Amino acid sequence: MLARTRSYTTFGVEALPIEVEVDASRGLPGLAIVGLPDQAIQEAKERVRAAILNSQYQLPGRRVIVNLAPADVKKEGAVFDLAIALGLLAVSEQVDPARLAGVLVLGELALDGRVRPVPGVLPIALACRGSRRPLLVCAGNAAEASAVSGLDVVPIATLQEAVEYLAGTRPITPRRRGARPRTSRPLSPVDFSDVNGQAQAIRALQVAVAGGHHALLIGPPGSGKTMLAQRIPTIQPEFTHEESLEASAIHSVAGLLGGRPLLDRRPFRAPHHTSSAIALIGGGPLPKPGEISLAHHGVLFLDELPEFHRDVLESLRQPLEEGSVRIARARRTLSFPARFMLVGAMNPCPCGHAMSARGRCRCPATKVQGYLGKVSGPLLDRIDVHIEVPAVPGAVLAAAPRGPASMELRAQVAQARRRQLKRLKRFAVSLNAHVRHRDLRAVCPMSADASRLLPAAMEELRFSARSYDKILRIARTIADLEDIEVIQPSHLAEAIQYRSIDRQLWA
Ligand SMILES: Nc1ncnc2c1ncn2[C@@H]1O[C@H](COP(=O)(O)OP(=O)(O)OP(=O)(O)O)[C@@H](O)[C@H]1O
Ligand SMILES: [Mg+2]
Ligand SMILES: [Zn+2]
Repeated sequence: MLARTRSYTTFGVEALPIEVEVDASRGLPGLAIVGLPDQAIQEAKERVRAAILNSQYQLPGRRVIVNLAPADVKKEGAVFDLAIALGLLAVSEQVDPARLAGVLVLGELALDGRVRPVPGVLPIALACRGSRRPLLVCAGNAAEASAVSGLDVVPIATLQEAVEYLAGTRPITPRRRGARPRTSRPLSPVDFSDVNGQAQAIRALQVAVAGGHHALLIGPPGSGKTMLAQRIPTIQPEFTHEESLEASAIHSVAGLLGGRPLLDRRPFRAPHHTSSAIALIGGGPLPKPGEISLAHHGVLFLDELPEFHRDVLESLRQPLEEGSVRIARARRTLSFPARFMLVGAMNPCPCGHAMSARGRCRCPATKVQGYLGKVSGPLLDRIDVHIEVPAVPGAVLAAAPRGPASMELRAQVAQARRRQLKRLKRFAVSLNAHVRHRDLRAVCPMSADASRLLPAAMEELRFSARSYDKILRIARTIADLEDIEVIQPSHLAEAIQYRSIDRQLWA
């Protein structure tokens, strides 16, 4: 007697179909599972057995083998509990095998027979789009699964419900994707209008967000670096539906959607500087996405940048370049998307006052070099916009805050993004920060004055070839914020400013 059903596992954010085959034969009663790691097998057996008995069904009184195929795909065990339990009931005539073969099944079982949510349901649902088979999932995963169109989602709360659904004695109306998730913006408790002074730093952040440029905030303690960074989400453009699906799939695999169908705003991730390389970059024996992937289509904020472990900072270089992170595994390499805007914050020296006018810094030169050296040249080079955040004079701090309203800044950002999207479509990117070197001339037309100014400034300030490209990309964004097609000298001049503090400090 053989029963079959289909389940799924995830490898990175890729969903892989797994056939759950259950075979019963004569012999001493017993249960063997093949295709899972040893530890997982034992735990799955215990859960499935207990759930069946506690739901008042019987275990098959025969020798049963469960095969999860293909065997060479490394999988976590719990996702298959419900499929395995239903398979056992099918080979013992408590469930109709034909009905079971016609569904997709995902879910962990609790010992009492309740179905528990599992990670990775969204990418699995995306892979099942267009399937004629309904997807049976834990009720707690149903919102997430039904964010995907073209799929019937059957929410299941207990093993008994699943059995009765398959028997046709318990009708459950499948969920189909209804209206798109609401796009209204949740009210934010913070706003750039809370900030005293720092007009230039706010402007620079707006430029960075508009073009998707990485940014580094540098200034003395208490000048508002953390405060400014925390307000970035208030000026980011809305998620597109595709972006939201991509980002939500990563959060789903990490088990972080928590019952929400989709993320409703761009992520803002601010991991602590003690975070391990795996926590930040991703990995582990069953690879999970790290903070850089959880920040996909949003912001990764690294406060106190030089305090992060050196190897963690260095391993950011490849994903910053490629927009994804590769994790090597014995059998195959896996990759998680990781296209985020990096925002770093730091002091200019250990005491924090190196850039202040009155010579308050007493740090010995070697200490300053050691501190700054933790942020390596190649990493620094990948951060386009360097922003000085000077100390705010007491009188300014004492006055009522008069920063620009986030809503206005955001409207300008959205407008600049629309301009970019339209122009960049034929270059297969969507943000100025990602324009390739070979496309820069076409993307960045300059006025006669501007094309005279740039080489002269490069010579004078001794910028590298890489900086040249960055200055052009940033100038492009500044012109886009003004809704101007041809880059003017003023746009270049502002862009050059954002490439200047690093040369002053790291010289
Ligand atoms: N420009 C400002 N406008 C209004 N409040 C400010 C400003 N700068 C600092 N503050 C106040 O001071 C507090 C500390 O600022 P914040 O933590 O942002 O400084 P920081 O630059 O990150 O300092 P550190 O280098 O010590 O991390 C803020 O929570 C805020 O209340
Ligand atoms: Mg801070
Ligand atoms: Zn100092």
